Amino acid sequence: MHGPELGRIEATIRAKIRPCQKEDLPALEWMGLYRPDRHIIRETFEMQQRGEALMLLAVSADFPIAQVWIDFARKRAEQVAVLWAIRTFFPLQGAGIGRQMMHAAERVARHRGFHSAQLKVDADNDRASSFYRNRGWRPIGWDEHGRRVMTKELNGL
Ligand SMILES: CC(C)(COP(=O)(O)OP(=O)(O)OC[C@H]1O[C@@H](n2cnc3c(N)ncnc32)[C@H](O)[C@@H]1OP(=O)(O)O)[C@@H](O)C(=O)NCCC(=O)NCCS
Repeated sequence: MHGPELGRIEATIRAKIRPCQKEDLPALEWMGLYRPDRHIIRETFEMQQRGEALMLLAVSADFPIAQVWIDFARKRAEQVAVLWAIRTFFPLQGAGIGRQMMHAAERVARHRGFHSAQLKVDADNDRASSFYRNRGWRPIGWDEHGRRVMTKELNGL
C-alpha cells in the first residue's frame, strides 16, 4: 500500500558519454539484472579492444546510466554499423538520455565511415519502436527471430 505523497523532486543529471573501460564492466550488469549476460559484456569489450566494436556509455557518479553498443565488424562489407544493447537505466527513462546517446552513437558510426546503421527491436516493444521512428529510423523487415529490423542513413549527420 502506498502512503500519501510527501513531496516531489525534479533533478538534473550530469553524465559523461565515453567508451567503456575495463573498470566499468561489473557495473554494466546493473546490480545483477544483466548478470546472465556477463560473458556477452566481456566478449563485446574484447571486440572493442580489437577495434571491432564500441560500447558507448553515459556515466554518472561512476555508474553507467545508459548505453549503446556499436558493432563495426558484422556488416562492415556493406558499410552498415549495427547498434545494440540500447538501454537507459529504468528510473531515468523518458528524460532525454536515450535520445542523446543515439545521437552520439550515430555520429561515431558516421565518423568511422559507415553510411548507414541498423538495429533490431522486439515486435511488441512499441515504445522503443516509436522512439526510433521519431529519430529517423525506418523499418526494413524482420529477422529470423521475429524482431523488427530498422535502418537509418548516416550521411547527413
Ligand atoms: C527505449 C529507450 C532506450 C529510450 O531511452 P530513453 O532514455 O528513455 O529515451 P529518451 O528519454 O531520450 O526519449 C524518450 C522518448 O522515448 C519514449 N520513451 C521510450 N521509452 C520510454 C520510457 N520508458 N519512459 C518514457 N518515455 C519513453 C518517449 O515517449 C519519448 O518519445 P519521443 O521523444 O520520441 O516523443 C529506453 O526507454 C529503454 O532503455 N527502454 C528499455 C530497454 C529497451 O527497450 N531498449 C530498446 C531495445 S531495441
